[in-house]
Amino acid sequence: MSTQAPTVRPAVPSDALVFFGATGDLAYKKIFPALQAMVKRGELNVPVIGVAKAGWNLDQLKARAQDSLEKHGGVDQNAWQKLSSLLRYVDGDYADDSTFAEVRKQLGPAQHPANYLAIPPSLFEEVVAKLVKSGCARGARMIVEKPFGHDLASAQHLNRVLLAAFPESAIFRIDHYLAKAPVHNIVSFRFSNSFIEPLWNRDHIESVQITMAENFGIQGRGAFYDQNGAVRDVMENHVFQVMCNLAMECPARRDSESIRDEKVKVLKAIPSIEPCNVLRGQFTGYRNEKGVAPDSTVETYAAMRLEIKSWRWDGVPFYLRAGKDLPTTCTEVIAKMRKPPQANMTEPAPQNYLRFRILPEMEIALAVSIAGSGEGTPRSLIELEACRAPRPQDMDAYERVLSDAMEGDSTLFARQDYVEEAWRIVDPMLKAQTPVYSYQPGTWGPTEGVPPETMANVTPPGGWQEAVSSAQAGSRTSL
Ligand code: BG6
Repeated sequence: MSTQAPTVRPAVPSDALVFFGATGDLAYKKIFPALQAMVKRGELNVPVIGVAKAGWNLDQLKARAQDSLEKHGGVDQNAWQKLSSLLRYVDGDYADDSTFAEVRKQLGPAQHPANYLAIPPSLFEEVVAKLVKSGCARGARMIVEKPFGHDLASAQHLNRVLLAAFPESAIFRIDHYLAKAPVHNIVSFRFSNSFIEPLWNRDHIESVQITMAENFGIQGRGAFYDQNGAVRDVMENHVFQVMCNLAMECPARRDSESIRDEKVKVLKAIPSIEPCNVLRGQFTGYRNEKGVAPDSTVETYAAMRLEIKSWRWDGVPFYLRAGKDLPTTCTEVIAKMRKPPQANMTEPAPQNYLRFRILPEMEIALAVSIAGSGEGTPRSLIELEACRAPRPQDMDAYERVLSDAMEGDSTLFARQDYVEEAWRIVDPMLKAQTPVYSYQPGTWGPTEGVPPETMANVTPPGGWQEAVSSAQAGSRTSL
């Protein structure tokens, strides 16, 4: 049987970008800076049509875009001039046919627009229907923001809506974490270093912890956040993507479907999470935020334990944690190795671990045990560490996802079966509405309610909080 990839017709690049939600928070923080970077790299030379209902005109959109660039990375005069000349604006209600007729008019001769929904999922269905009716969907791609739905049933419904109008190959479900170089690097590190594969399984790994800590709150996004919470906002998408990169098998081929197949297999092997394996927390003061219900039980912190029932991972607990208003901003993985045999040792040797840091900078560290410096001094654990600060030429995650989607490369996007499996895993625990324990801003989450046999007893010496925060502070031992 041939192992050659089937011949794939090169994808046609999108000849316009239409983005809904042009006056919103995401556009301000991420999309305009990404568009400027694309122009600067020579990757964007087509009309960019912002759509929103704000009562604005094109000049106001341009002013907003310029302000966004000033606040997020700076204005590059040449790139900005070019981007400004590409920008168009349509102001109107998403329920009105006339809004979409105007979009079609602004598209001019474009035949393959990319329609980007940077709007709440509750509006997707209506916008898709109007795109179809107005002719804006013909030959088009759909780029949709996370969270993709609210639970399994709504994600399935959204998929049905999208797939009725577009083939899967034209749908790009964004998870910008996938486009972060350190997340992607987990896969290349695993599959391009022969020493790691023999160790990367249940025989040698005792547990895996993934922590996504943020030292800020909800940053004025109360209305959005209170409809979602930490599990929907980051856990079932960003943190799960990191987990899949850690746990997947090597794809048979390098095409997007072979890679995405392996990720889906990881999720399929995970039983839905039992509510008893979940801890939810809410930082004190959250209920006073604008847009948040005064009696909200939405979590700003979530920790969970799950298992991957595969030949590689069966019996290895995966501990996932994510929270707002924690002491530091850091996303990190710690894969703890099993204890070395104690034979001929005068004292127990500490356990090795492999650490992947995703954020704020890329790091990979292997913790090894070394002898103390003198007779009677205890053994210690030091990290052999490689790290790389972000470089100016690195692509930002949003630049990467928008460029890839407009080129038609699906590799870094969540496929239909992936998003549905992810929701299946968290659905029962979301519905169970487990208790929410409060925690003080700037602390490491709730201290009560930690399921004793699931999480507390697997943390590294000193606790997982310490593992992340001491590394964050740069207090590492060197040889
Ligand atoms: C977003 C979440 O998807 O990701 C935010 O909505 C979160 O709550 C953010 O802060 C983290 O991503 P990044 O790239 O800004 O670290």
